[in-house]
Amino acid sequence: MTQVTQLSPQSILVLGAGELGLPVLRNLARVVKRVSGSKISVLLRESTISTQLSEKKLEIDELRGLGIQMVAADLVNDSIEQLAEVFARFDTVIGCAGMVAGRETPMKLATVALKSGVKRYFPWQFGVDFEVIGRGSPQDLFDAQLDVRELLRAQEKTEWVIISTGMFTSFLFEPVFEVVDFENDTVNALGSLENSVTLTTPDDIGTLTAEIVFFEPRFRNEIVYLSGDTVTYGQVASMLEHVLGRPFKRNVWTVPFLMQELEKDPAHHIKKYRAVFAQGRGVAWPKAGTFNERESIPVTTAEQWAKKNFANK
Ligand SMILES: NC(=O)c1ccc[n+]([C@@H]2O[C@H](COP(=O)([O-])OP(=O)(O)OC[C@H]3O[C@@H](n4cnc5c(N)ncnc54)[C@H](OP(=O)(O)O)[C@@H]3O)[C@@H](O)[C@H]2O)c1
Repeated sequence: MTQVTQLSPQSILVLGAGELGLPVLRNLARVVKRVSGSKISVLLRESTISTQLSEKKLEIDELRGLGIQMVAADLVNDSIEQLAEVFARFDTVIGCAGMVAGRETPMKLATVALKSGVKRYFPWQFGVDFEVIGRGSPQDLFDAQLDVRELLRAQEKTEWVIISTGMFTSFLFEPVFEVVDFENDTVNALGSLENSVTLTTPDDIGTLTAEIVFFEPRFRNEIVYLSGDTVTYGQVASMLEHVLGRPFKRNVWTVPFLMQELEKDPAHHIKKYRAVFAQGRGVAWPKAGTFNERESIPVTTAEQWAKKNFANK
């Protein structure tokens, strides 16, 4: 683990506190104890901050208990100017609000970040390697992420850092994704059994993001790669057999088959993801060379995740 000493204090704003934002905030609150003078805030809608829904309220209370300040704003309904005034109060802004209102939001928030004069911006790009995939892929949302990269690269005032994480580990096993079909004990490989996918859990992304934010020498204007695990679909089938102690059939959904499926249903979000992952470009990278490997920070492998989550499957 990196020994982080004499770090520069930062005033950090995290956008959103959902599946990704919560672990990022929890880990920032932990790391910030090593960096005197740093402050963590989270931007949420006023209605969320003052919620009486018990589950959400528990999370808000937890964040307050960690010393995290609440900042009320609406990323969809507030104007670029209003949001820029909010961002301007911080050194670092980390986007963890997902796509919120669809494909316009990433560009809106990047525009806000540049307008605000914030020193460093981490856009919500915790995913695949959009440049390697390229424009015009089956997942059109990825083009919006490329627009953001072009905007950030075309200027020098605001430093940016992109954290590439691959797919959230749990998503590979989501019934709606249908790659792992537990009803028929089948793995439906996307493209081929030899195609790989990089997987990282949101908890590990939280741990690693907090380290990256304070890492010295400072990351600026670069893509930092993470990998909890990088596995082929064939390895996923073998891993499930090992963890669950029963055979799994291997089926291949080819690119032409998945493209035909998408043509029948062109707005189907999951079908877009299946097709782009099947093409096998920019969706996996070796674990060696990732930030977590270089810094010897332990992360959750697919097998560890499956053992923990599928004890009774
Ligand atoms: N690589 C990947 O596989 C990958 C990467 C990222 C995300 N995802 C998937 O995408 C989904 C989204 O994950 P996520 O953590 O990014 O998002 P999320 O869990 O949906 O959380 C979004 C956060 O943004 C807040 N928010 C929503 N609208 C807002 C607005 N108008 N103004 C201010 N805040 C607003 C939400 O607050 P409220 O509580 O008020 O709604 C919530 O705190 C997850 O299901 C995840 O599996 C996958």
